[in-house]
Amino acid sequence: MKALIDKLEKERALSRDEWIALIGGRSETLAQDLFRRASAVRRRCYGDEVYVRGLIEFTNCCKNDCLYCGIRRSNRSVSRYRLTEGEILACCREGYGLGYRTFVLQGGEDPAWTPQRLAALVADIKAAHPDCAVTLSVGEHSKETYQLWFDAGADRYLLRHETADDAHYRFLHPPEMSPENRKRCLWDLKEIGYQVGCGFMVGSPGQTPAQLAEDMLFIRALEPEMVGIGPFIPQRDTPFGGRPAGTLELTLFLLGLLRLMLPDVLLPATTALGTIDPRGRELGIMAGANVCMPNLSPENVREKYALYDNKLCTGAEAAQSLRSLAQRMEGIGCRVVVSRGDHRKL
Ligand code: 5AD
Repeated sequence: MKALIDKLEKERALSRDEWIALIGGRSETLAQDLFRRASAVRRRCYGDEVYVRGLIEFTNCCKNDCLYCGIRRSNRSVSRYRLTEGEILACCREGYGLGYRTFVLQGGEDPAWTPQRLAALVADIKAAHPDCAVTLSVGEHSKETYQLWFDAGADRYLLRHETADDAHYRFLHPPEMSPENRKRCLWDLKEIGYQVGCGFMVGSPGQTPAQLAEDMLFIRALEPEMVGIGPFIPQRDTPFGGRPAGTLELTLFLLGLLRLMLPDVLLPATTALGTIDPRGRELGIMAGANVCMPNLSPENVREKYALYDNKLCTGAEAAQSLRSLAQRMEGIGCRVVVSRGDHRKL
């Protein structure tokens, strides 16, 4: 197994069978060695810097019906909300004062937010904060729409591919969604010139090491600037509400592998990781991550963006607690910086 990690670090790629062997054959000692190397690689590219993004969950209305997701359209127990332009701009203003220089607008696929309306909002945010990056995370759209938002000033786009295995994708999604369209979106975003983030849930129902190997091969081929991974966590009102959550252990191991495969990738220690373990964020950074995305949404809507049960949105999770997050990062030899935190080509 150690030879496979050597090879990954040197060649930044493994074959399908090697990925399966490495992920399936992992151990505690192997993980410790992996994390040491991943931290060194992160340090070589980004020093001790950890980047923060202010996450604004601006609508929990969604036309999709993904089987794992708490804000799926058929979940009648969600109290739906949409922030107004004014409220979103107020979040950015507050975030700017706190030291955020990237705003992530994340939401369901909400038809009330037409492409034009969102483009106008992006332009307004960029006009108010020209030194900030805007990241969009609003799902699958046409290439023309992605281009419209890019031209309005959007810098980055997050769209998790969720799983690169076609059969597994169909298992996790309703019939009207397809793995082909998901991947098409990511390639379109790359071509337009966004800094692109893909990603997947760890331990989603039915996931096998062979499917995780597909994820690693897909990510290698796409070469995204960002990769978001976090454990699957059941949400009680969804069809997968009774399934077990993904583990901290496997998520950390995959973060380490991703850092070795893509040394300069922007890799968040996600909210889901912080939710399954109180030290999840720190452990994620020590495994190779270099980004945190605290919640900058207005207090009164935070718990309505319930993708899964017990989702963190207070304490170090709240954008307002940047000081405490910074202290936690200092505790592991890292430094939260006031910066756009753009991707750096190594
Ligand atoms: N557990 C963990 N992550 C989830 N997401 C959606 N539902 C869940 C869940 N139950 C993730 C998906 C999506 C992102 C916004 O949140 O990967 O892309």
